[in-house]
Amino acid sequence: MEINCIYRTDCLLGFKNIEDESVDLIFTDPPYYQSRAQNIKNLKNHKDVVTEFKFDGYASEEEYLQFIENVLRECYRVAKNGASGYLWCGDDFVSYINRITEKVGFQFRKVIHWHKTNPFPAIHTRKMFANSMELLVHFSKGSPKTWNHKRVNEMHNFIESPICMGKERKKHQTQKPLKVCIPFIEISSNENDLILDPFMGSGTTALAALMTNRSFIGFEIDDNYCKIIDERLKEFLLQSKDFQGKEPKVK
Ligand SMILES: C[S@@+](CC[C@H](N)C(=O)[O-])C[C@H]1O[C@@H](n2cnc3c(N)ncnc32)[C@H](O)[C@@H]1O
Repeated sequence: MEINCIYRTDCLLGFKNIEDESVDLIFTDPPYYQSRAQNIKNLKNHKDVVTEFKFDGYASEEEYLQFIENVLRECYRVAKNGASGYLWCGDDFVSYINRITEKVGFQFRKVIHWHKTNPFPAIHTRKMFANSMELLVHFSKGSPKTWNHKRVNEMHNFIESPICMGKERKKHQTQKPLKVCIPFIEISSNENDLILDPFMGSGTTALAALMTNRSFIGFEIDDNYCKIIDERLKEFLLQSKDFQGKEPKVK
């Protein structure tokens, strides 16, 4: 497979072209099987009226968890011995996902908590707290071979940052800020290592890899998101002359 390339395909098809034990780090953010508010009114005073919720497209929780297991099984196959993996998820599925990482052969290591300081506000009519936490499950194939320890107070399993805003924000509902991805990539991989993200979304993992002098491969099934990735990569290339002749791309 071509390095520094995102393939417009279902990741389970794409995986078939990745060799066994060829990837140094997995960093990914699969669909969450979550309902998302579609039609929100009166957001200003937080007494919102939500008339529609949309699920991520799986028929049942069982089907969703089976999909995650199939993906993680492929991640295990393509990971080098000692590779780390990081997978974003919500609090509703985290304990299942921990178990699935171990079922497919990984060692589960820790859950990292991202506190979003500006989450989507609590919806008055749902009588629930705002969802201000997202979780990042860390796992490894055997003992991690790379562990670039930062300062002690940067090694907590907690990170705080606003959701993507301003120039970084693209039209992707679940875009992760570079700021909450890069530290883990730096800790668990070295320059020139290969990072895999089967669910590229708006291309955050690809950007984070390029910004830290790593390589990447990835997949994204949605054409519109592939266009966003393409634009983001082009924006990045405008600031960097190092890639002439081997520019990262979407295929
Ligand atoms: C949670 S989002 C990833 C967001 C990403 N971390 C970012 O910062 O932009 C998950 C992405 O996976 C994509 N996706 C869903 N099923 C897929 C599949 N079977 N193969 C490849 N991509 C898929 C969705 O279109 C979506 O963009």
